[in-house]
Amino acid sequence: MNTKILTTKNEDIKIAAEIIKAGGLVAFPTETVYGLGANALDADAVKKVYAAKGRPSDNPMIVHIARASDIDKLTPNVNKMIVALIDNFWPGPLTLVLKKRDEVPTETTGGSDTVAVRMPDDTVALALIAQSGCPVAAPSANLSGKPSSTKPEHVIDDLSGKIDAIISGEDCRIGIESTVLDVTSEVPMILRPGLVTAAEIEAVIGIKPSLDPSLLRKETQADDATEFKPKSPGMKYKHYAPKAQMTVIEGRRNRVINEIERVKKLNESMGKSVGIILFEEKAFREAAHDFFAKLRELDEQEVDLILAGALSDTDGVGFAVMNRMLKSAGYNIVKV
Ligand code: TXA
Ligand code: MG
Repeated sequence: MNTKILTTKNEDIKIAAEIIKAGGLVAFPTETVYGLGANALDADAVKKVYAAKGRPSDNPMIVHIARASDIDKLTPNVNKMIVALIDNFWPGPLTLVLKKRDEVPTETTGGSDTVAVRMPDDTVALALIAQSGCPVAAPSANLSGKPSSTKPEHVIDDLSGKIDAIISGEDCRIGIESTVLDVTSEVPMILRPGLVTAAEIEAVIGIKPSLDPSLLRKETQADDATEFKPKSPGMKYKHYAPKAQMTVIEGRRNRVINEIERVKKLNESMGKSVGIILFEEKAFREAAHDFFAKLRELDEQEVDLILAGALSDTDGVGFAVMNRMLKSAGYNIVKV
C-alpha cells in the first residue's frame, strides 16, 4: 500500500478525514503520542487497525471525540462524577472507561461491554475527528510491542506501507499515553498511569481513585494471583520493548550512577555496546517527553544493552514513566 504523507494544513486534514469516512486508516498527532485512527463505529475499519499494528484483537481501543458532549453517543451512563472529570480534564490526557452503547462494535472494545473515551488536546487531532464526522478509534501508532510513537518519523518507520495516510505533525508535547481511568464503579480505578495523577483526580471528585493492583511492582506479585491480572487488557502484553536487553537500576542517585558506569565498562570491555537512559533527578515531565524517543534512538544505534536509572516517584508523572520503563525492561531491576 502506498501511504500518503500529509501535512497539518487544512486541505490535508480534509483529505485525511475523507479517508477515515471511507473506512481507511490515518495516523495523526495528539498531545500524548501519535494515534492510528479509524472510524470507531465501523467494525471492518477497526479490524484493519489490529492488522496494521499486529495487535491482539482482545486489546480494546480508545475512542477519540472532538466535542465532550459526543460522549453521550458512546455511553448511556454519564453521571455527575464523570461530568466533573470531563469539565476539568478534557480536552486532555485522561481516558474514561464507561459502559458502552450497543452502537459501539465489540471489535472496537476488544469484546468488552465497556468503551474507553478521550478528547485529545491537540488542534490537528480535533480538526481531523470533527471533519471525519465520527468517533475515531485510535491506539498508539506503533507496531504492537514497540515503544509508542512520539515523532512523525517513528510512525513512518513502523507503519508506512501498511496504512492509508500519516499526518506528519509536531513531536508530541507529553510523550507518554493518557491516564486510563475506569469509572464504571463508584470508586474509579486507574488502569494505566499518565500525566493526570490520582491526586489530581481526587481533588476534582473528592474520591481517591484505586490503582489496578497489577500496576504494583512485579517483584511483590505471586505469578498466578488473580488480583495482579491487569484489568486493562493492553497492560498484560509485552510492551515498549527495545531490541536490546534492558536493565533498570534503582537506588540512591550516586550509587545508580556508579553502578551504570561499572556495568557499562564491564560490558564494553567484552566488546558490547551500551546505551544509557538517565534523566535529571525529579525531571519527570522531561522523562515522559523523551523516554520512548530515547528507546527508539538506542534501537537505531543497535546497542546490545540498555542501562536505565529508575525514577523515584510513587504516584506522579515519574510513576507513570516508571510503569513504561519497567515494562520495557521486562521487569529486570537491579537494586544498588
Ligand atoms: O494517549 C493515548 O491514550 C493514546 C493516544 C493515541 O490517544 N492512545 C493509546 O491507545 O495509548 P492504546 O491502544 O495504545 O492504549 C489503550 C489502553 C490499552 O492499555 C487498552 O487495554 C486500554 O487502554 N483500554 C481501552 N479500552 C478499554 C476498556 N474498555 N477497558 C479497559 N481498558 C481499556
Ligand atoms: Mg499502545
